[in-house]
Amino acid sequence: MSETSPTVSILDAVGQKQLTQSERFEKVRTLVHPNSTSACTALAAEVADLIRARTQENLDTVLGLATGSTPVPFYRELIRLHREEGLSFRRVITFNLDEYYGLSRDHPESYLRFMRDQLFDHVDLDPSRTHIPDGTVSPDDVYHHCLDYERRIADAGGIDLQILGIGRTGHIGFNEPGSPIDSPTRMIVLDRVTRQDAAADFMGIANVPRSAITMGVGTILAAKRLVLMAWGAGKAEIVREAVEGPISDIVSASFLQTHSNATFLLDAEAASGLTRFRQPWRTGQIAWDATMQKRATVWLSRTLEKPILKLLADDYAENGIGGILTGELNAAEKANEDTFQLLQSAVNGDVIQASGQGNTTEIKKILIFSPDPLDGIVGMGATLARLIAQGHDVHLAIQTSGNLRVTDSAARGFSETTKGLTALDAASDSSSAMADYANEILRDLDEKGEFGTDSPSVRALKSQILRADTNQAIRILGLEPSRIHFIDASFYENGRYRRFRFDEADLVPVRELLDQISPDLIFITGDANDPSSPQRIAFRIFAEVWQTTLDSHSTVWLFPGSGKPYGAQESDLSVPVSPDQLKQKADAIQRFRSVGADETADTITARDRRVATEYDTLGLAEYEAMETFRRWTPLSAADHQ
Ligand code: F6R
Repeated sequence: MSETSPTVSILDAVGQKQLTQSERFEKVRTLVHPNSTSACTALAAEVADLIRARTQENLDTVLGLATGSTPVPFYRELIRLHREEGLSFRRVITFNLDEYYGLSRDHPESYLRFMRDQLFDHVDLDPSRTHIPDGTVSPDDVYHHCLDYERRIADAGGIDLQILGIGRTGHIGFNEPGSPIDSPTRMIVLDRVTRQDAAADFMGIANVPRSAITMGVGTILAAKRLVLMAWGAGKAEIVREAVEGPISDIVSASFLQTHSNATFLLDAEAASGLTRFRQPWRTGQIAWDATMQKRATVWLSRTLEKPILKLLADDYAENGIGGILTGELNAAEKANEDTFQLLQSAVNGDVIQASGQGNTTEIKKILIFSPDPLDGIVGMGATLARLIAQGHDVHLAIQTSGNLRVTDSAARGFSETTKGLTALDAASDSSSAMADYANEILRDLDEKGEFGTDSPSVRALKSQILRADTNQAIRILGLEPSRIHFIDASFYENGRYRRFRFDEADLVPVRELLDQISPDLIFITGDANDPSSPQRIAFRIFAEVWQTTLDSHSTVWLFPGSGKPYGAQESDLSVPVSPDQLKQKADAIQRFRSVGADETADTITARDRRVATEYDTLGLAEYEAMETFRRWTPLSAADHQ
C-alpha cells in the first residue's frame, strides 16, 4: 500500500512479518481464508480503500494486474464494487504482468482479451491508461518494447499495489525458474509445466505459445505492495516452498520473502501444505483428539521410517509429540495400537459395510459423479469394478462432456474413416450425407488454424468420440453403457477453461438424477481442486443440490481430485486393489485415446501402488495397490466456493 494512503490495510498490518508461533515457519506474511470468495472480498476492499484514498488526495493509483484463473473472482468483486458501491477507476492506471508472445491481440487466450472480458470492459477505466506487454511486436523490437514498458511504469510513479498469482513452477508473472531477483521486463521461454497447465485453455499443448513477455522479478519487487493469491490444493506444494523454503531463483515467488510489504493470500486448500496446517504439532499447542493423534503418529512413523507398532516413548518425546502419551506405563504402546487400529479399520474392501449401510450381500444403489469422463476411473476405477462385480446397482454420472480436451487428430481420424467408408458405397443417399458431414468437420478443423476455437459441429463430434471412449472403458470395468448418465453440464459447454461459472440451469439435471436414482452411496470429487476447474465447479453444483435435498440417507464419499490419493493419515476408507483389478483399471484408462491425457495409465497405477506401499511401511498388511476415500459431511456451501 502506498505510503501516502491514510488507510490501514484490512488484510494485515503493513510490512509485518510473521509473529505468532503457529506461523513461525512462514517467512512472509500469509493470510488464510476459508475460500477464495472471502479472500477476494477482503482484497477488493483493500484496493477500493486505496483507490478512494488516493483519489481524494488527487492522486492516481497504479495497479499491477495478473491474469489466469486466480484473479477472476477478485475482478468480479471489483466490478461489483463499481456497479453497486460507486467505486470509480477513472484515476487508476494499470500495468499487466505479462502477455503470450505471438498471439494476435484479440485471440481468446490473449491477456489483452482476458483483461477486457474480465475487468476493463465492465468498469470506467480509461483504455489509454491500461498497459499490457504487446506479444505481437517483432523479435527485433522486443528489447525496446520491454525498456519502454519499464519506463512507462516509472513515469506513472511506480506500482502502488501489484496483484500476483503463482504457477506450479513457482513463477510470478512468467518468471520461470532461473529468473534473477533483479530481472527486468523481457522475453522469456515458458517452462514445460507452465505450457502443460495452459494446454486445456488452448485445446492442446501444441497450441500453447512457447514464449511470453513478462515483467521481471525486479520489476515486480519494485512495487510498493505485493499480494500473491493462490487457491486450490494443486497450489499447496509450491505455496509451501515459496513461503517456507529458501529464497531461490528456482522458485521465483520465494523472492517475495525479501519484500517489506508482501502478503500471500490463500484459501484453505492452497494453505494446506504449510507446516501450521500439515504438522500443527510443530507450531503450537495441540488438543490431542484421535484424528490429530493419528496424523502425528503416521508422521512420526514416516519420519523415523519405523513401523507404527515399533515406535518408542522416546521417539514421541524426542520429536515434539510427547503430549500424545498419557504418562502411564505402556503409554507409547497404547498410542501405537490406537493409531494402528484406526488405520487398520480404514482398510476395507467392503465399501457398503464401511459406509454403515449393511454389508456387501445387500444390493445397494450407488451413484458415482465423474466431472470429466476420466476422473471417476482414475480416482476409483478399481473400486468401481469391485462394486459392479459385487452386483450392486451402480450408476456413473459424467458431469461434463470433456470435449474441450479431445484432440483435433481424434476428430480428423474419425472424419477420414467416415469418408473412407462412404466411398465404398458412394451412390447411396446416406453415404453422400455422411461424406458431407465428414467434409464439413475436416473443413472446420482446417479453418480453425493454429490457435482457433472449435466450431459447434466439431465440439459435438468430439463429445461423441469421448462418449465412445467412455463406453469402452466402462465395459472393461464390467458396467453396461446404459448405466452411464451423460449430463453435458451447460457451464462447460458455454465456458472456457479458467473462466467457468455455473448457474441455476446446471443444478437441474443433478437434482433430477438424485431424485431418479435415490442412491444409498454417492462418490464425488473436486472439493479441493482449483475453484475455476470443471472438477470444483461440478462439486459445487452437487453440494448446492445436496443442501436442498431432503432425503439424505446416502453416505457420500470423496475420491481424490487431480488423481492425488489421500495419505493414510487422512483417508477414511482405503480399498485394497488386487493385481488383476489394477490391470483392469489401467486397461480402462488406456481406452481414452481421444484426449491428450495429462498422465499415462502407468503413472496413475504406480501412484495407487505407492499408497499400498505406504501402508506396508507403516506396518500394516501389504497389498498390490489401494484407492483412498474420505467421508463427506456437508458444510455450508460457502466452504466450497
Ligand atoms: C498471469 C501470470 C501467472 C499466473 C500463474 C497462475 O498473468 O502472471 O503468473 O498468475 O500462472 O495461473 P492461474 O491463476 O491460472 O493458476
